[in-house]
Parts: sequence; structure tokens; C-alpha cells
Amino acid sequence: MTERLSPDEAGLARAADLLRGGGLVAFPTETVYGLGADATNGTAVAGIYEAKGRPSFNPLIVHVASLTQAAELVELSAEAERLAAAFWPGALTMVLPARPGNGIASLASAGLPSLGIRLPAHSLARQLLEATGRPVAAPSANPSGRVSPTTAEHVLAGLSGKIAAVLDGGACDVGVESTIIGLTGAPALLRAGGIPAEAIEACLGAPLAPPPANASPTSPGQLASHYAPTGTIRLDAEAARPGETFLGFGPSAADLNLSSSGDLTEAAANLFACLHQLDAMGATRIAVAPIPDHGLGRAINDRLRRAAAPRP
Ligand code: TXA
Ligand code: MG
Repeated sequence: MTERLSPDEAGLARAADLLRGGGLVAFPTETVYGLGADATNGTAVAGIYEAKGRPSFNPLIVHVASLTQAAELVELSAEAERLAAAFWPGALTMVLPARPGNGIASLASAGLPSLGIRLPAHSLARQLLEATGRPVAAPSANPSGRVSPTTAEHVLAGLSGKIAAVLDGGACDVGVESTIIGLTGAPALLRAGGIPAEAIEACLGAPLAPPPANASPTSPGQLASHYAPTGTIRLDAEAARPGETFLGFGPSAADLNLSSSGDLTEAAANLFACLHQLDAMGATRIAVAPIPDHGLGRAINDRLRRAAAPRP
């Protein structure tokens, strides 16, 4: 049963409690309603994909309550500070180098060394972020493939029964998602959105580079920068062959296990950390146990198939 919370002190306190406990809470921002989870809790983040029925993992935007909190999570360049001063709080997301050991679950950034971060302007969103005291990962609060929600009714129509609560703040003002600027290299427009690219260019005093050709926002799971381990990957392996490192699923002997109890939510939460660990172990040939192809298993298999595909 999804709770519908009123935009008052009690509703905010309940929403923050649910988030801190690993629950999923939809909340209003000035752009669209976000489906929030504690970004430091991998299992909670995995729940976002489960609730949305999303068949692939893409990096999520992490929402913060203050510039100070942002500076703890990412490296703010001079350009980033200038954009933050001009457009935060607001409908601007910046993709910046993540600070090592920032505590963000690797699933939230899909294993990438960068993090998409936003300080929203909506007063309820800000109060919720402050009350929660944690960074909150939040994509739009709609089932995969459906229109982004701009009212609590939209959220419930798509996700009722699948999330803990929705904080009802009425209709969103902007109605389109935030503008995403990549700042890990030359400033680039990664997604057009609520703030015009021209305004950002005027602030930077320089034109934005177009998005990399294969980073289409309609297929974020195909971002070229998506993390893949160095070793080659063999899927649906019942056991390791000589020289292979075995990534298991379920109760079998393995070098590393996505979930020894065979739990898909746990496996999703562990996926990118395991792939990084295989690199750290120096694995050159990786065998992966079969993963059931339902629920979150579809997104896990999608990512593993991409990692196993021949590389350009
Ligand atoms: O307005 C919005 O931005 C809404 C509200 C809820 O804040 N949120 C939203 O989040 O649209 P989401 O998670 O759907 O946006 C994810 C997109 C990815 O598809 C990708 O394009 C970009 O943000 N992104 C996030 N982190 C990234 C990263 N590390 N590198 C590249 N792109 C990233
Ligand atoms: Mg969306």
C-alpha cells in the first residue's frame, strides 16, 4: 500500500524516515516528480529499477540539500562553481568527477567514476533532502517507457503499490526534466531540459559541446562511458574453466558472488562493485553464472551482455 503524504511537517518527517529506512519515496521537484532512494544504500537504489520495471541500468541523478553536500560528493571545478552560483537551486544537473569514497552506491552512478548531481529549487524537495540528511538518487517517478509525472496522481497511477509513499506537493512548475551538463571534460550538453542551453553558454562565456554521438539520452544504457571490466566475459557459465575467474549467483562456489542467496535485488546492488573488484583482482577471463531473466535480472543481464559484447 503506497502512502500518500501531505506537504506538512508530519508528511515530511514520515517521508524522510521511509527514505532513511531504505524505502522508495516519490517527491515533487520543480521539474517532475522524482522517485527517491537513499543514494548511499545499494539495495534501495536497486529498488528504483525494480519499481520502474526498467530493463537496463543508467546512471541516476543524485539530489543534494546544499552546495556543501555537493562538494563532499564531487569535485567542483571553477566552471561548476560558476554554474552552481547562477542556476542552483534549480533545473540544472552537472555531471562531475566523483570523490573517491563518497559513499554513493555504485549502482547509482552505474559504476561510472562521475556523478550527476542536482540541488533542486522546490521547497518541499529541499526540506525533504534536509530532513533525510542523505543524498537522494531520483529518476522521474514513472514506470519505464511512460510519461514523466508532474502530479502525485500521475505517480500513483503508475507506481501505486510498488513504492512506499508519495509526498503530495501538487503540480510541478517546469514539467520537463533538468538540463544535464557534462563537466568531466569540455562542458557538454548531455540533455536539454528546464534551463535553456543558451543561458548556460552565456554564463560560461563559451559554447557547449554537443553530446557524444552515442550518449543519446533516449538510450542512456548505451552510454559509451558505461563501465565495463577489462577482462573478457563468458555468460551463462555453469562453472569456471581453467584460468577463468568465476562470478557467481546463488549458493555455489565462486571467486566472487553477486548474491549467494540468489536474490536479484542484492545482485543488482552488488553488480558494479563486483565488476570493479574483478578488475582489481586482475581477472582477464571472467565466467558469469546464469542470472534469471526476470525482474531486475533483465537489467543485470542487459549490462552483462553489453560488457561481454565485442569491444570497438
Ligand atoms: O529533472 C530531473 O532531472 C529529474 C528530477 C526527478 O530531478 N530527474 C531525472 O533523473 O530526470 P534521471 O535519473 O532520469 O536522469 C538520468 C540521466 C541519465 O540518463 C544520464 O543521461 C544522466 O542523467 N546522467 C546521470 N549521471 C550521469 C553520469 N555520471 N554520466 C553521464 N550521464 C549521467
Ligand atoms: Mg525519466
